[in-house]
Amino acid sequence: RFLMLGGAAAFSATGLRPVPAVARAADSAVSGGSTIRLIARPGRAALAGPPHSEPETTVWGYDGRVPGPEIRVRQGERLRVVLENRLPEETTIHWHGLRVPNAMDGVPHLTQPPIAPGESFAYEFDATDAGTYWYHPHVRSFEQVERGLYGPLVIEERELPRTIDRDVTWVLDDWRLLEDAQIAGGFGNAMEAGMTGRVGNTVTVNGRVTDGGFAVRSGERLRLRLVNAANARIFGLVFEGHEPVVVALDGQPVTPHAPEDGRVVVGPGMRVDLVLDMTGRPGARARVLDTYYAKLEYRLLEIAYGAEPLRDRPPTAPIPTLPANPVPEPNLARAERHAVVLGGGMMNHLEGALVDGRWLDAREMMRRGLIWTVNGTAAAPGVHVHEPLAVLRRGASYLLEIRNETAWPHPMHLHGHSFRVIARNGVPTRHREWQDTVLIPRRESVEIAFVADNPGDWMFHCHVLEHQAAGMMGLVRVA
Ligand code: C2O
Ligand code: CU
Repeated sequence: RFLMLGGAAAFSATGLRPVPAVARAADSAVSGGSTIRLIARPGRAALAGPPHSEPETTVWGYDGRVPGPEIRVRQGERLRVVLENRLPEETTIHWHGLRVPNAMDGVPHLTQPPIAPGESFAYEFDATDAGTYWYHPHVRSFEQVERGLYGPLVIEERELPRTIDRDVTWVLDDWRLLEDAQIAGGFGNAMEAGMTGRVGNTVTVNGRVTDGGFAVRSGERLRLRLVNAANARIFGLVFEGHEPVVVALDGQPVTPHAPEDGRVVVGPGMRVDLVLDMTGRPGARARVLDTYYAKLEYRLLEIAYGAEPLRDRPPTAPIPTLPANPVPEPNLARAERHAVVLGGGMMNHLEGALVDGRWLDAREMMRRGLIWTVNGTAAAPGVHVHEPLAVLRRGASYLLEIRNETAWPHPMHLHGHSFRVIARNGVPTRHREWQDTVLIPRRESVEIAFVADNPGDWMFHCHVLEHQAAGMMGLVRVA
């Protein structure tokens, strides 16, 4: 399942095929890297997991699998991925959270032409920041991601933290399955799009409902990389009897700390890296629960201790702070302030909005499936975005105050940059965490700050993919 760039040998066991380097000028500058081939195509997945391998679900996946192969590279290496599209429709790959050059960002019509069925596209960029990332399409994401097109991408620190015994990725998703285990239709349903987005009825970890449990050994210290690939479900994970420590958010290191309320909240698109000490006895079992939606406590899986301990107890060495990534520090004293207001949705009165420069009243918006607004404008995939929400000067610092005036939470994602979350509801945050996707509860506000150092047009949108498709999207230009 793990893939390391840098040698053909590493590929053979993973099912990923190395291919000869794509002939292009940049090759000469690439040292050591191989090219990864991914095929976006339909496939079949046993989501229910053993022992229920039937019935299988027809999915769309990278190499036909859910999740797609985990891509692993070392920080500083160059990543080259050729995507071949064998879907019945256009697609792209967006490298969520990675600060890539604009032309590699995977936004159709904005940064590249969409990849037609039968065609390929070569992505190539440097792995600048270590951390946990993921990849997914940016064409009709509300359907393509929901059908299973996503995969984890791990950029390893130049020097791996020494006190970690095992590095594990959990890609979380939820599905809306019918009785026969097939994915229910009705993608982008307007009613849901105006509320929570599409929340499913089946949660999977790495594409499986893990009845069998997650095997661990007493005394182990794990690094657990959580990726939320769900369209709309927010997870709030509780590890019964265990004390997870948050060490990174959205790939970026944070001062190690216990999660608030002991609950690890992961909004759609977000990642959380935990260090988890396995303090239980051999043979013990412990539940991992999703308690975000208090009414429906959901057992995600069970931690299952093997009979043989790894050692008496987990390492006593303190959990180290991961080395910082080369993200430029915003100058708060000189940062230019901008307000971003999120509006619309159910339970709000919406007069109308500017759609591609034209004022549309709420009824006309509805007719086009637009329900949400960002600063009084509504944009969506298919409704081409031309006018930026803001034009930022390259190299300058910005502070955005994002006010969620709606009755629903929104994980807001900015492409091409990581930002510091410096305040919530006017109160400075404790960890000034770097994020690329920030969850803003209903009627709350956050302040984020960053240096606009990556030139190009960048999407800024809600990662509830039905919200994105229903207008909660805009672009920010760095020029
Ligand atoms: Cu993960 Cu614009 O998306
Ligand atoms: Cu939203």
